[in-house]
Amino acid sequence: MAQMSTMLAKETLAIICPVINDIPPNGNGSSGDEHRSSGRPGNPTNDPPAAADSADPSVDVKNTLDELGRSWELLGKEDPLWAILSDPAKRGGGWEIEEFLATGQQETVKVIAHLEERSLNPQRHRSLDFGCGVGRVTHALARYFDRVDGVDLSQAMIEKANTLHSHIRNLFFHHSTSRVLPFVDETFDLVYSRLVLQHMATDIALSYIGEFVRVLRPGGVAVFQAPSRCLVDQEVKPSEIHLSGDSAFIEMHAHPPEVIERTVEDCGGRIADVRDDPCAGEAFESLKYTVVR
Ligand SMILES: C[S@@+](CC[C@H](N)C(=O)[O-])C[C@H]1O[C@@H](n2cnc3c(N)ncnc32)[C@H](O)[C@@H]1O
Repeated sequence: MAQMSTMLAKETLAIICPVINDIPPNGNGSSGDEHRSSGRPGNPTNDPPAAADSADPSVDVKNTLDELGRSWELLGKEDPLWAILSDPAKRGGGWEIEEFLATGQQETVKVIAHLEERSLNPQRHRSLDFGCGVGRVTHALARYFDRVDGVDLSQAMIEKANTLHSHIRNLFFHHSTSRVLPFVDETFDLVYSRLVLQHMATDIALSYIGEFVRVLRPGGVAVFQAPSRCLVDQEVKPSEIHLSGDSAFIEMHAHPPEVIERTVEDCGGRIADVRDDPCAGEAFESLKYTVVR
């Protein structure tokens, strides 16, 4: 039976980490926000985005949207804050809500600074937080945008988000179990997603990335994080998290940067920036992509 292991990542964020036997020391040497590349990536092609699971050593194929939803629903009901930032000391309702939400405020300040440093100035009308959980980052984005929408696969997470942030008038949370985002084309100035795409197989992640570009307004920006490669050779098994009466299984997946870049381009976006975002644990190299439309 698998055991769950947790670890604190940089920036005090933690994730539910996959089970790996004998994890070697992290070999990526990442400095945390190191610039990787900028400008248009050199892989122009008219081929459809590849479902690159065969190139992804971390894939354990039982990952479907249904199973994902079942597990996040269980976690959202039983211990939502810890499921999002899984500091071992906070298991079982250990997070103070102010402390938890402060991590989202700090993260949002960094996102806005990142855009300004890159001279990216999307309008401040509408923003989307994909995989918003209980609105840790979503509520903080509401200070910067006229309206912010959060979407999550877990009804329990959405209910908790609505309870926590009912006083914020420009914040709207949506439960969605579809691969298609519940918004018309060209709706958002900023699309944000962190600690989400890492939990799904590459073909699913790519379809959401295509959706990010579709719902961006011209001049809009998407900022999202995704692991780029697994740093260990052996199979990465899903973490089994024992809950009252049931178990949740959380998977970790790496998505090759070249297929992400191709998907973005094929959908009409342009990669403006790629840099390290080491929030996926020791076994994965992880990147933050900035995409403009
Ligand atoms: C680790 S939590 C991160 C939450 C939030 N992004 C944050 O940083 O606070 C992952 C969240 O992604 C959601 N999620 C996973 N797969 C999803 C999908 N296919 N569509 C929407 N949300 C999804 C889960 O329900 C969960 O709330």
